Amino acid sequence: MPTPHPPVYLDNAATSFPKPEAVATVMDRLLRTTALSPGRAAHAFSLAASREIFAARERLAAFFGCPDSSRLIFTANVTEALNVGLFGLLRKGGHVIATSLEHNSVMRPLRHLEREGHISLSLLPASPAGETDPAELAKARRSDTRLIVINHVSNVTGTMAPLAELAALKGDALLVVDGAQSAGVFDLDVTALGIDFFAFTGHKGLLGPTGTGGFVLGQGVELPPFKMGGTGSASEFELQPDFAPDCYEAGTPNTLGIAGLAAGVAFIQETGLATIRQHELALADRFLDGLSQINGVTVYGLPAGGQRGAVVSFRLAGKGVDEVAYRLDRDFGIMVRAGLHCAPAAHRSLGTFPEGTVRASFGFCNTMAEVEYCLDALARIAGA
Ligand SMILES: Cc1ncc(COP(=O)(O)O)c(C=O)c1O
Repeated sequence: MPTPHPPVYLDNAATSFPKPEAVATVMDRLLRTTALSPGRAAHAFSLAASREIFAARERLAAFFGCPDSSRLIFTANVTEALNVGLFGLLRKGGHVIATSLEHNSVMRPLRHLEREGHISLSLLPASPAGETDPAELAKARRSDTRLIVINHVSNVTGTMAPLAELAALKGDALLVVDGAQSAGVFDLDVTALGIDFFAFTGHKGLLGPTGTGGFVLGQGVELPPFKMGGTGSASEFELQPDFAPDCYEAGTPNTLGIAGLAAGVAFIQETGLATIRQHELALADRFLDGLSQINGVTVYGLPAGGQRGAVVSFRLAGKGVDEVAYRLDRDFGIMVRAGLHCAPAAHRSLGTFPEGTVRASFGFCNTMAEVEYCLDALARIAGA
């Protein structure tokens, strides 16, 4: 019987755990000390909530290189942000290009718009390691290409797209970036990169709570509001206000979550993106090296040292992916994810459809000892 070991959480690509203490502290304090309805009244509690949202908006806008914080919009998660962006920016249809590594939060809206006859869709091929070649984008572009969608860091292989090279090829098309796996780990200056719509989620690398996310809308990009209702502003009008951020944020916002998200980003700023990234990549690199020593392991993605995030997908010969994940959890207390990771197209390109892969994803709080423990567990499972 393996010796008992404290649980090891290696599913940070799904949601990061644990969160910085400051995230829990601010959420606990606000929940206990103030009502949380911002922008609706002039009383002290409402003003306090407005200040939290304003400070969070300013912090996140600065973090992503967005000079006008009114163009940083909060949503419930990146899925909502991407739906807003894709349905809104594609209301007049056109040709769309996306990578083959898109998550279903991009693929499903696009396939829906295609099926309804609103858009035509081209997917850029990916290499066996999940790389997208900018030359393929240049080839796929057409005179009616309206929008290009790039998954910045794959949640299946961890492979990072060459964003600057791809952005340089966008021409007249709008560039939409899914930053779900890169925000909080890689430097992202949305303005310098010329990104027209940048979507992020709050609960992964940004270390905030679930129920948070948003998008940055590039200067001059027009997007219709996606929901309408009370904003606490221009209430004398029965039509939705036409100014950001109010036009996009109808309904009482998730003040608590947004304050927690700001605390997560503050933690990242204090710690340093480079420190976080180096730690996570060192763990992933050691894991990749260790996997290469285990008989029967196939890794899907770039080797150690590649342009990647700390997400590693693999399979063990002769063992189902669910079996491997189940045994890691049951026998060793190691939590990983098995299956398609909501990205069937990525698995079609990698040749791992329909079974998928086992995915281990590392966060700032993981340790090298946990990586060694997981490698040891996998060697035992492989040998059993
Ligand atoms: C690349 C990518 N896009 C989108 C999502 C969806 O994130 P959320 O569930 O926070 O909307 C994920 C999460 O797994 C992801 O990894």
